[in-house]
Amino acid sequence: MILKYQFGHVLPTGAVYCPEAVAKTRVLKRGSAAQIPHFTMLPDGQLFYRLGDEDVVYGLGEQARGINKRGWHYESLNTDDPNQNEGRTALYGAHNFLLIDGAERFGIFLDTPEKVEYDIGYTNYDELVVKPPKDYDLYVLEGESDLEILKLLRKLTGPSYLPPKWAFGFGQSRWGYKSARDVRKIVKKYRELQMPIDMVYMDIDYMEDYKSFTVDAEKFPKFKKFNEEMAAEGIRLIPIIDAGIKIQPGYPVYDEGTEKGYFCTKADGTPFVLGVWPGRCVFPDVLNPRAAVWFGDQYKALTDAGVRGFWNDMNEPSIFYTEDRLKEAFPRVAAYEDQDPGAVTFFEMRDVMGRLSNDPADYKAFYHQIGKKRVRHDKVHNIYGQKLTEAAAEGLKRAVPEERTLLFSRSSSIGLHRESGIWFGDNISWFSHILMNLKSAVNANMAGFLYSGADVAGFVGDATPDLAMRWLELGIFLPLLRNHSSRYTREQEFFRFGMEADFRNLLKLRYALIPYLYSEFMKAALSDGLFVRPLGFMYPEDARARRVEDQAFIGECVMIAPVYEQNATGRYVYVPEPMRLFRMRSAEDYDTEVLQKGEYFIEAALNEVLVFVPKGKALPLAKAEGVRSVRDLKPGFERVLKYGETAVSYEFYEDDGLSREAGPDHVRKLKL
Ligand code: GLC
Repeated sequence: MILKYQFGHVLPTGAVYCPEAVAKTRVLKRGSAAQIPHFTMLPDGQLFYRLGDEDVVYGLGEQARGINKRGWHYESLNTDDPNQNEGRTALYGAHNFLLIDGAERFGIFLDTPEKVEYDIGYTNYDELVVKPPKDYDLYVLEGESDLEILKLLRKLTGPSYLPPKWAFGFGQSRWGYKSARDVRKIVKKYRELQMPIDMVYMDIDYMEDYKSFTVDAEKFPKFKKFNEEMAAEGIRLIPIIDAGIKIQPGYPVYDEGTEKGYFCTKADGTPFVLGVWPGRCVFPDVLNPRAAVWFGDQYKALTDAGVRGFWNDMNEPSIFYTEDRLKEAFPRVAAYEDQDPGAVTFFEMRDVMGRLSNDPADYKAFYHQIGKKRVRHDKVHNIYGQKLTEAAAEGLKRAVPEERTLLFSRSSSIGLHRESGIWFGDNISWFSHILMNLKSAVNANMAGFLYSGADVAGFVGDATPDLAMRWLELGIFLPLLRNHSSRYTREQEFFRFGMEADFRNLLKLRYALIPYLYSEFMKAALSDGLFVRPLGFMYPEDARARRVEDQAFIGECVMIAPVYEQNATGRYVYVPEPMRLFRMRSAEDYDTEVLQKGEYFIEAALNEVLVFVPKGKALPLAKAEGVRSVRDLKPGFERVLKYGETAVSYEFYEDDGLSREAGPDHVRKLKL
């Protein structure tokens, strides 16, 4: 059952897809003595819930901490900050959903484009306090199981985005590929080494002066032809699109947007000027429906050249500096010139520039035109990325109506999960971020972003051969498998580190898994379920399973337990029911044993992946030999990994992987 409580008048966010799913609506006054199930409303409007000792608090989507959110405080405040560490309270997404699993079981969803704060046992371990803005809609979700509550959330906010099947292939990326030659070299190397690959991502260097929707004709001459050449090789080019539009008369996107009044303005009506990669920029006002259509239509410049996938970046929106503040900062720094730069003075001076980025005051300095209203940005901040990527999705539907396209965004809020995936932004080449990747996958899935992934081997910092391999051992199970890194780091394509046979085997194993992954993904999306599942959802009665954060189920048949410590020769694994372990060096080469319920230290050499299949389940593997890209995968399976000898029934989803129609009629019952 879904109950709705309205506080004030929230600006429509577009998060709710099916308002009819709500059983009852009440309009409440903030801070009144009104009864809300489970919560006490404090006089200042905060929502208070007393946590039991055993309660697990799931939710909040993209955040730097665990699956169980207890013991920290969080914000929904979309922020671009590459320093992803445990101290962070917000990342790029605002996913205002919590699921309390314990003495009571219920979920809440706060529909608001503004900042929300959560204290989940941070001040007091047994207190959950939600600090909402003045205007918001609160949905209380009551269900019998965790999964049922999640399904209610999805019923309310709509089904998850469906990517094309080729988007389950491997993609290589680097902020640093500067020309068609660079891209060709990468593809050639992967092909030579027979490492399957489907996508090469194009970061900002493909553009002319970092201008979105342009292609540098010198570095990428005859782009359409180049795209065709790559397509013939089985490679899709996936360009980045940035939110900031460069101020440059003569650049059609800038000229047209200016003429039509489609950029955000300051209180006095003049353009809001900020700096990101291209230098001085303006933001497209994608909250204005007309501007959104116009922005979405810009993608045609690239779809006309044959492009079928995009990643939308910098759409929190990220601000390196604003013109106004930069003007103030220079004289302030200059004033330090005659002073003795003692440590304190020096750090103060450094901060004058350092604090310019993402300054909260700047987010109050520009406006959107929503219908007849002018709305200050901070009132709608958390849906900017969503609106920008929705505009893209709509544009892509107009441009390529017959095909599913690949689209993922850095910034998001619940609602965008209907139109796009997300990636987790600028992570770090650290072993701890392998584990963070697994947790993020679970958390993003709960928020509806089934198609999601992290930069495998890490974006910031230098990857090492063993890190790349261990990370890939996790990445092969997650929908968005992309190796991406910053230009300031060691090159980390999977052919850079030696051990080529091992990397090849892992990538081939990924391709052998694709029919299963795609099947489980589509079933999860079509049934409003989860693709990556925490153990607590699979074994709700098992107190030990509810605490496991470094293992997960991928679909219904496979439990994974990645190694995420350097130099580890294996790891402890909790086996929650009898399972068969496959210690896999490739799709063909593995050893196997049956494990009863219990805790084990399981050996896993650097090139070995641990795969667990419970009794009664089966993992079908396709033939990956000779497969260069997804399109080479042949129907049927080469082998089935299962617990015992007896045949197991499996519901297999299979379609053409491309057309927009998808549905349960594509499910066949197989005996494996
Ligand atoms: C941002 C993105 C990153 C990209 C870089 C340059 O930091 O998160 O993925 O490589 O910008 O475009």
